[in-house]
Amino acid sequence: MNRKLLGAALLAMATLLFNPAWASDAPAVDRTATGGAQTLEDIMARQQQLKMDEAFRSENLGNPANAKPITEQLGTRGGVSDSDVWRGIRYNQSDIKTQARGPGADVLIQDGGMPWYKLREGPMVTYGGGALLGIILLLVVFYFVRGKIMIDGGPSGTKIERFKAIERFGHWLLAGSFIALALTGLITLMGRSFLIPVIGHEAYSTLAVGSKWLHNNVAWAFMLGLVMTFVMWVAHNIPNKLDWQWIKAGGGIFTKSHPSSKKFNAGQKIIFWTVMLLGVSVSLSGLSLLFPFEMPMFAGTFSVINSVIGTDFPTALTPHEEMQYANIWHSIVAFAMMVAIIAHIYIGSVGMEGAFDAMGNGQVDREWARQHHDLWVEEVEAKQGKGGSS
Ligand code: HEM
Repeated sequence: MNRKLLGAALLAMATLLFNPAWASDAPAVDRTATGGAQTLEDIMARQQQLKMDEAFRSENLGNPANAKPITEQLGTRGGVSDSDVWRGIRYNQSDIKTQARGPGADVLIQDGGMPWYKLREGPMVTYGGGALLGIILLLVVFYFVRGKIMIDGGPSGTKIERFKAIERFGHWLLAGSFIALALTGLITLMGRSFLIPVIGHEAYSTLAVGSKWLHNNVAWAFMLGLVMTFVMWVAHNIPNKLDWQWIKAGGGIFTKSHPSSKKFNAGQKIIFWTVMLLGVSVSLSGLSLLFPFEMPMFAGTFSVINSVIGTDFPTALTPHEEMQYANIWHSIVAFAMMVAIIAHIYIGSVGMEGAFDAMGNGQVDREWARQHHDLWVEEVEAKQGKGGSS
């Protein structure tokens, strides 16, 4: 694709993504004519999905008899007041009894549904998609400004083993599953807005069902890859003083120098810990979504956060709210990981001469290794001198 076309495509996608409709406030409404009840303006504002102040309803639960269980409010001619009854149910003020069993069975009206839906369809798509486009744009600019990072003086031709087959298997299990999860996750989140207009409802339906199946099942491979790579590489990723030197030198990226490093430099350690910590978080929130209502974790997490940093997050959540938080958090963490991983993929492939070989066949050029991981080469060669291996 030529540069002009690429620029136009990115601009068109950004314009589509940045649709601010979700953020508009509903206009102030005079409700004297209805005695404080909702007006036509309120109904219209809700239909247009404007941001509304619901206090006129949530605080108007009618006569105190409504605090009684619903069964006691129902007479031969219906409830004490139908609208009061339903408001009581809606704002969680009624004692509900149902024959249906299950964690969410006595939630008859779930008021958090619309805010969650709007957040998911609006800011999540806008900012998440924007972040992905942003990092891609940044890397394109970086490529043109800095260019590919080459091996100074060219490759030596001598090879040195960087990763064993089992390490490469762990990496590609993690990488392959992550890419599949990212793509199917994006299809699930954004497909309704961006794919249905292009491929139609029927084709999208098949794609969505397939994506969901793949997403739910590939998740296990991701978790296995995460555990494998953690166990194999954690010892090489403990931060030390050398990392600070590496960061102060900006990794030598713009000065074209080569700050000292052992097996993994500070930049790689940042990627490692980002993948591990966010990977655990995305996996836990994903499991909570995969087994609905079985693994609520936000009320507990919020109460720990509140007690540690004095915040005021809600600690009494309905089962559905738990699921909504899990869904939103899962997406936020996934986007953060995608941003980091896009940068990682760039530097591990087109961005740096000789880097891909490390995960390709496991053998890197000795000169590449000496320039980017000098202390590691010394360690390996010292061991080999004693008859050991890397
Ligand atoms: C096509 C995609 C990818 C390519 C080409 C790629 C390439 C590489 C390369 C060449 C290395 C070794 C760097 C070295 O020798 O020091 C590496 C390491 C690593 N990769 Fe990937 N990778 C890809 C996708 C992923 C994904 C999706 C993840 C995680 C979700 C991931 C996680 C890691 C981690 C944790 C390391 C070790 C730390 C580091 O070197 O940054 N990689 N990758």
